[in-house]
Amino acid sequence: MSDAAERILTLLRDAHGFVSGEAICRELGSSRTAVWKQINKLREAGYRIASAPRRGYALEAPPNVPLPVEVTPLLHTRRLGKALHFLPQTESTNQVAAELARGGEPEGAVVVADAQTSGRGRLGRQWFSPPGTNLYVSVLLRPDVNPVRVPQVSLIGALSVVRAVHRLHPGLELGVKWPNDVLLGGRKLAGILCEMAAEIDHVHHLILGVGLNVNVTREQLPAEVADSAVSLRDALGAETSRSRLLAAFLDELEQAYDLWTDAGLAPFLDEWRELSILRGRRVKLAALTEEVEGTAADLSPDGALLLKLPDGSVRPIHSGEAHVLAY
Ligand code: BTN
Repeated sequence: MSDAAERILTLLRDAHGFVSGEAICRELGSSRTAVWKQINKLREAGYRIASAPRRGYALEAPPNVPLPVEVTPLLHTRRLGKALHFLPQTESTNQVAAELARGGEPEGAVVVADAQTSGRGRLGRQWFSPPGTNLYVSVLLRPDVNPVRVPQVSLIGALSVVRAVHRLHPGLELGVKWPNDVLLGGRKLAGILCEMAAEIDHVHHLILGVGLNVNVTREQLPAEVADSAVSLRDALGAETSRSRLLAAFLDELEQAYDLWTDAGLAPFLDEWRELSILRGRRVKLAALTEEVEGTAADLSPDGALLLKLPDGSVRPIHSGEAHVLAY
C-alpha cells in the first residue's frame, strides 16, 4: 500500500465520519485527482469508502484481510510482528519465513498470507489454504535454548491460539490435543507446524507456523476434512476479523514465549491439563517408528505425553500423533 493511501486511511479512521476532499488534499499536499485515485485504490483493496458531494469521504468498513495497516495499530507487542510481511498469495508462509531467517531477519518477524498454494501440515500433509477466509501465519523465533526443548514452543503456540480466540470470543469451548492442535467442539480449528534449523546444541531459527480456520464455510472444506475440521464461523454463524485475531495471537504469543524463556513450561502445565482433550482417554499413538496404545495420563514437566500402558507402566512420548480410541 502506498504511503499516500496509508495516510488517507489514517485520516479517515481518526475522523470516525466524513473528511472533506479539500482537507485530505491539504494534508497530503496533493491534487483532488490524486486523492481520488488513491481512494479508488483503497476501494480496490476492499475498503468500503463512502463519498458524498460537499461532505467528502468516510470509511465504512475495512476489508477482512490481515493487512499490516490494519494489524499494526492493534498490536501491543515489543518484538513480534514489528516486521510484518503480508503476501496476497504464497506457497507456504513457513517457507518464506525460513528464507527470511536464513537472510538474517531478526526474531519476531511475521509472515502472513491471504492464501497458500502449498500450505504444509504436520507429517508431510497439506494444509487447506483458500483465499479470503483464514489465517496462515509464520513467526520467526530464535530461542537461546537446547534444541530438545523446542517442541515445547509448539505447546505454547497452541495455548496462545486458545487465549487469542478466547479474547475475542470468551464463551467458546476450546480444547488442545497434544502436541499442538486446537479443537473446537472436538473438531480441528487450528494446527501448528514448527520447523527449525539447528545444530546439535544450538538453535539457528525456529518457524512457528499456525493455520487457523477463521471464516471458511463447511461447504468450502475439502471432503477429506469436512468432518474433522471446523471454523470459528461454523461455530458462531458470523465472521471474525482476521486482523483482530492475528493481533491478539501475536500479543498472547509474545507474552507466553517470554515467560517460557524465563521459566520454562511449568507456568503453563495447569492450563494445558485443563484444556487437554486427551487426558484420561484411551489413545493410539503413532510415534516415529511404532504405534503404542494406552491411556493418556498427563503432560510431563518437559512437554511429553505420559502414556499409561496396559501393564501399568508410564511411558513419556516425545513426538507423534494421538488418535482417541474411546471416549
Ligand atoms: C498441522 O498439520 O496441524 C499443522 C498445520 C500448519 C499450517 C500452517 S499455515 C501457516 C504455516 N505455513 C505452512 O505451510 N504451514 C503452516
